[in-house]
Amino acid sequence: MKICATISETRAACRDARAGRKRLGLVPTMGALHEGHLSLVRAAKAQCDVVAVSIFVNPTQFGPTEDLSKYPRPFDRDCQLLEKEGVEILFAPSVDEIYPDGAVTWVLVEGLSEKLDGRSRPGHFRGVTTIVAKLFHIIEPDAAFFGQKDAAQLAVIRRMVRDLDFPVEIVACPIVRESDGLAMSSRNAYLNREDRGRALVLQHSLQQVQREFQAGERIAAKLIASAKEVFAREPHVVLDYFEIVDPDTLDPVERISQKTLVAVAAYVGSTRLIDNLVLNF
Ligand code: PAJ
Repeated sequence: MKICATISETRAACRDARAGRKRLGLVPTMGALHEGHLSLVRAAKAQCDVVAVSIFVNPTQFGPTEDLSKYPRPFDRDCQLLEKEGVEILFAPSVDEIYPDGAVTWVLVEGLSEKLDGRSRPGHFRGVTTIVAKLFHIIEPDAAFFGQKDAAQLAVIRRMVRDLDFPVEIVACPIVRESDGLAMSSRNAYLNREDRGRALVLQHSLQQVQREFQAGERIAAKLIASAKEVFAREPHVVLDYFEIVDPDTLDPVERISQKTLVAVAAYVGSTRLIDNLVLNF
């Protein structure tokens, strides 16, 4: 695996990798890799000739009171995992390489960036779209792989790609879970033993909605009320949002009549976790 710290090295490596019309896949990450990230790498390996991964803890998507400084950075371990998966190129730049002094240009998907996580984390999606746009320009992938775990992020990135005509296919990969159902996340490492148990309430609330939907309930307000009852039984967990929305516009849906996203975010102690479920017909 070629490890590149600079943009120019990465451009050269990716250009070489694409030579001969090879299909290049990109998996953007912030590192602290787990099976969720590796599932994206495996999907990229299956669908592309060459795979590039980026590891960059992107400061512009963290709010001033968020966990930027304590975000885990086990770089050597991440490299070993990626090497084992057969990744050809790793882009791991410094903050200065990505944001040189005087950088003032942003990519903003208006409206969508203020919904779901964007409402609770002002500026978050502006940081995400800016770094992802930069990665697309530097690496020029044919396809980029994202997890359904971050459903709002996926909607915002898809819209950016459409609106700005990026020549890249966005591939969504299913949520990978721990054996008890907790969605894998680098932030799960922050949970102590008690909070780790309490965190299951996110998944339980979604399962409750899934059951009622399967039994025929279609009124979003009723499903949300049931989910909130599940949360009420876990007083140590503070619900941020529980919403039933259109997966492309992220606008609330009143009556479910087509593919719909059920998304939840909650604070377990000081750790903010998210999860979601797609209701299909
Ligand atoms: P990060 O949280 O490291 O996630 C990188 C990718 O892994 C995202 O596409 C995310 O949806 C996916 N992922 C995380 N947990 C997953 C799980 N349990 N199952 C499936 N996929 C999972 O998301 C980011 O980084 C950043 O915002 C980034 C896009 C890299 C921009 O900085």
